[in-house]
Amino acid sequence: MTVHIGAKPGEIAETVLLPGDPYRAKWAAETFLDDAVCVNEVRGMLGYTGTWRGNRVTIHGTGMGMPSLSIYVNELIQDYGAKTLIRIGSCGAMQENINIRDVIIAMSATYTTNMNKPLFRDASFAPCADWSLLTAAVEAAEKRKAPVHVGNIFSSDVFYSESPEMDAELERHNVLGVEMESAELYTLAARYDVRALAVLTVSDHLKTHEALPSDQRERSFGDMVEIALEAAFS
Ligand code: HPA
Repeated sequence: MTVHIGAKPGEIAETVLLPGDPYRAKWAAETFLDDAVCVNEVRGMLGYTGTWRGNRVTIHGTGMGMPSLSIYVNELIQDYGAKTLIRIGSCGAMQENINIRDVIIAMSATYTTNMNKPLFRDASFAPCADWSLLTAAVEAAEKRKAPVHVGNIFSSDVFYSESPEMDAELERHNVLGVEMESAELYTLAARYDVRALAVLTVSDHLKTHEALPSDQRERSFGDMVEIALEAAFS
C-alpha cells in the first residue's frame, strides 16, 4: 500500500493503462480484461488488474491534470514497479484536418506547468513518447483503419483557457490537440527509465466547437483501449 493506492505488493501489473476517469478504468477493465479484480478504491480512484490475451494488465485512473496524474504515476513506478504506462484519454483538437473521434498519438507534449521548473531551470525539457510504443500504436491504429494523427500535443494546466493568443500560437506551430496530463507522464517515464505513451481520442474541437455526444464516447474510447493494449504487447 502507498499513500494513495491500496493495492498489495504484486497486485499491480508491469503494464498499466491510465484513463483520467476512474469509472472509465472500471468500464475498460470489465469490457476488455479477463478476470479483472479491483485493486484500488482509495479516494474513489479505481484500479483493476486482469489479463488481456493472457498478459497481465492494470487499468488505473489518474484524475484530471498533471498534479493528480503525477501522484499515481510516481507511486505506480516507484512502489509497484510499473514499466509500461499508456495514457488513454480524451483531448480537444486544435487543427482543421482533425475530426471528432480521430485518434491522436502524442509524440511529444508541450506544457506550461512549473512542476519541474526547479529541476530544469532555464532548459525547456521536451517530454517525448517511447519510440517502440509509438510505432506499435500507429501500426495498431492503421490496422483498425482508425484515423490517426501523430505529433505534438499541449498538456494544459487549465480546461477553461483564458489565453487565446497562446492557443493560436500553439495551433500555428502545428500542435495537434490539448489535454491535461501527458507531459508529466512522459517526464516521469524519462526520469525513471520506463516506457510511456499517450493515445487520445478527440472528444471536442477547439476550432469547430463540435463535441462528441456522450452516448458515442464509449465506442470511440474502446478503439483507443484496444490500440493501447496491442501496442503494449506487440
Ligand atoms: N482542453 C483541455 N483538456 C481537454 C480538452 C480540452 O478542450 N478536451 C479533452 N480534454
